[in-house]
Amino acid sequence: MSYLLTLSKSLSIDAYKKINFLVAGVRGSGKTYGTLILIAELASFPRISPCEFLGTVQLPTQIYCVDFKNSDLARLGDILPTGRVATNKEDAIKVVSDYDGKMHERLAFLRDKEFGATAGALGMPMYYLLIDEWSATNASFNQGMTKADKDLRYKWNSLITDISMLNRVPGFGLGIISQQISVVNSGLNSSVQEEAGLKLHFGDANMNSYRLTFGNDIQIPEMRLETGEAYAWIEGLTSSGYVIPFCMPEIEPDKLWDYLKQALSNTQDDKKYLFFTSQ
Ligand SMILES: Nc1ncnc2c1ncn2[C@@H]1O[C@H](COP(=O)(O)OP(=O)(O)O)[C@@H](O)[C@H]1O
Ligand SMILES: [Mg+2]
Repeated sequence: MSYLLTLSKSLSIDAYKKINFLVAGVRGSGKTYGTLILIAELASFPRISPCEFLGTVQLPTQIYCVDFKNSDLARLGDILPTGRVATNKEDAIKVVSDYDGKMHERLAFLRDKEFGATAGALGMPMYYLLIDEWSATNASFNQGMTKADKDLRYKWNSLITDISMLNRVPGFGLGIISQQISVVNSGLNSSVQEEAGLKLHFGDANMNSYRLTFGNDIQIPEMRLETGEAYAWIEGLTSSGYVIPFCMPEIEPDKLWDYLKQALSNTQDDKKYLFFTSQ
């Protein structure tokens, strides 16, 4: 399968089918680091061997990032083409508008193909927009009463809603990382919450926090998670049972940076990959 994303040795998901993911957990629990690991995998799709961390890079996922903390995720700006990473409101609107525009271009391309054509069926590379520290980002868009502030706020909300509603067919994923990902506490709109095929909660927390992430119908084991360990809720798999505990691979920071350089160098190119089909 082309879009197989490995969370741990024993847990993989189809990133195209799950398309939107949410990541929760307290500061220092491994959310951003875990997301960087997933980015290295996504950008080197498809993976051929479970032993090799990086894939063959034949269907490289195109990566876009919003990181107002200007920390680890934003460092990808050193490797990614210009216009892919935003660390403030104005740039976030530019980057996310561009992402949304490309999604619509791909949708139009698919509409010209046979009826019911999808990016997945045509073997097109995926796109992913990662937004780190979602709550802080969203709060910053909600501040300010000038006309300019209101314009940015309106654009931000409509772009996120548009992407979350149309992104399945064109394979334009949305990854949202935040200490809180419940609708009530995070300013996450309910369509993003409901459309998420994968929810991860990293690190140790009390039962109430896990419940906010996963809801009340899911069983949560009595375990103590460490940094880099998480519970996973996976659409269709954990709907009525227990969340699945797993542990991200442990990778030294220098090594991870090497992986990211390998996965993202020469693979991030909209001209080449927006309309690329492998089937
Ligand atoms: N899978 C991992 N392998 C190795 N180190 C990790 C891993 N996950 C987290 N860490 C360490 O923990 C630190 C904090 O993780 P981070 O992802 O920044 O937390 P968060 O984003 O939840 O605040 C990282 O800088 C890294 O040193
Ligand atoms: Mg972080």
